[in-house]
Amino acid sequence: MDPSSDTMKIQVEEISSLNGTLILPCFEGCEKPPSKTMNDADRLTRTLIKKILSSEDFTGKSEETMNVFGGGNKAVIVGLGKKDKITTKIARDTGAKLFAKLNKKHGKTLTLRFSSDWKLDTMNAFVEGMILRDYKYDKYLSKNDDDDNDDSPYNLHVQCTPKNVKSLSELCEESQNIATGVHLARDLGNAPPNDLYPMAYANMAKEWAKGKKNVSLTVIDWEGILENKMGGLENVGKGSSRKPCMVIFEINKPAKGKGNPPIIVGKGITFDTGGISLKPGASMDEMKYDMHGSATVFGLMQALHANGHSEHIIGISCMAENMPSANAYRPGDVITTYSGKTIEVLNTDAEGRNVLADGLWKSGEFNPKFIIDLATLTGACVVALGHEASGLWSNNDELLEKIRAMGAQVDELAWPMPLLPAFEKEMTGSKIADVRNLGTSRWGGSNTAAAFLKQFVPKMSDDKDAEQYPWAHLDIAGTAWGASTNATVAHGATGVHVRTLYHLIKNDK
Ligand code: BES
Ligand code: MN
Ligand code: ZN
Repeated sequence: MDPSSDTMKIQVEEISSLNGTLILPCFEGCEKPPSKTMNDADRLTRTLIKKILSSEDFTGKSEETMNVFGGGNKAVIVGLGKKDKITTKIARDTGAKLFAKLNKKHGKTLTLRFSSDWKLDTMNAFVEGMILRDYKYDKYLSKNDDDDNDDSPYNLHVQCTPKNVKSLSELCEESQNIATGVHLARDLGNAPPNDLYPMAYANMAKEWAKGKKNVSLTVIDWEGILENKMGGLENVGKGSSRKPCMVIFEINKPAKGKGNPPIIVGKGITFDTGGISLKPGASMDEMKYDMHGSATVFGLMQALHANGHSEHIIGISCMAENMPSANAYRPGDVITTYSGKTIEVLNTDAEGRNVLADGLWKSGEFNPKFIIDLATLTGACVVALGHEASGLWSNNDELLEKIRAMGAQVDELAWPMPLLPAFEKEMTGSKIADVRNLGTSRWGGSNTAAAFLKQFVPKMSDDKDAEQYPWAHLDIAGTAWGASTNATVAHGATGVHVRTLYHLIKNDK
């Protein structure tokens, strides 16, 4: 559960000895090796690199890479495009794509050399791209003794100008800690649904919390759900023999009082068959990722804890398996949620919103600073935004802008979507219950889902006219997996928004 020992080992130092394969990132138009970048390389290797850089064979355009083998050292030259056009995104993606091209021939020891042209943030982003891409999910693959798969960790020497060593070292360490959270979220997302069911997640969380002094973990199990009348979780989960639960992570709980923590709520449907409103068979296996909201919550807790986060923070995961059975809830049922509000269930496949209703309402008991939920909530969001951005809705412009800006900064885009009164009216228009779980038509399906969730955002006081807590909803249906344009991941779960939320929470003073 904890950062496995096989993660990349990183050492930041000034340009000194050359260990293993030299990785040399070069900007467009670079005609000769930047000063010092050839230190300790043998003569033939230097000559080869010089020749290549001065020739037309390597121009330094973005995505160009060239192996320089044959000398006494091995090297890879990597193009980054124009120096004045470099961004953290270009650096991160290039680092990730470079890592993806490494194979056995490059060995496990690398020396990455940055010339004095590089700035701290882009150097860190390049290294971050390499770290993020250094991930595979091979737990379920049989290992043969004669396998030439070397699972030992990479040894990465990052070399830069002396004045940047200390700061870059700190940044890389932080990135590496964050990546343990991203990789944990991916592990959870990729886990097969026969092994990762609601209580399995809860047990993993308990195991993770063990021995961590500033972490407290609460699991509201099946009995607890019934006692607390959490009807959203109860009804979605009752059709499965794997019963639902709510998992509450709390870090740095204050000794006195409630504190004022950010709260992150995740949809954790460990498998979504659709229930009685059964989904078609094609690609149904992908519904194992329907718990990625809760995977991000868990990964975020890991990222914050690993970096010694010292402020109060809460994560709430709403775990259930949505199955058809004799015990399953049905279309037509009216269910009572934890808030006391009733839902007319018109489609059992619109289950994420039902479990989130209880998670959002639970947040109100902790005096939240703000509430952000993450959910693989609607296919409609994928229709709207493809795999390029998560949908972002909020009742608070400031919170929305913070999330949008941070998402853009770390390249996990979150795109503002409308939370219109008309959608709320549509979702509260049931004749027999407070809220309906399906829109009146299929149009704007991700917006009506967000409008549904808003009905369960707690208010800041019992006063009838009290305002709701600041809340934002991220629909990650398109970004949790399946984005071929995401350079930081080969395939499967992405761990999306662990980085966004880590930086948002860290910088939210
Ligand atoms: N988990 C799905 C949403 C989903 C579908 C995410 C495909 C990613 C890819 C969710 O529970 C669901 O089934 N939503 C329905 C809602 C509808 C019944 C209102 C959907 O999107 O079709
Ligand atoms: Mn569903
Ligand atoms: Zn679902």
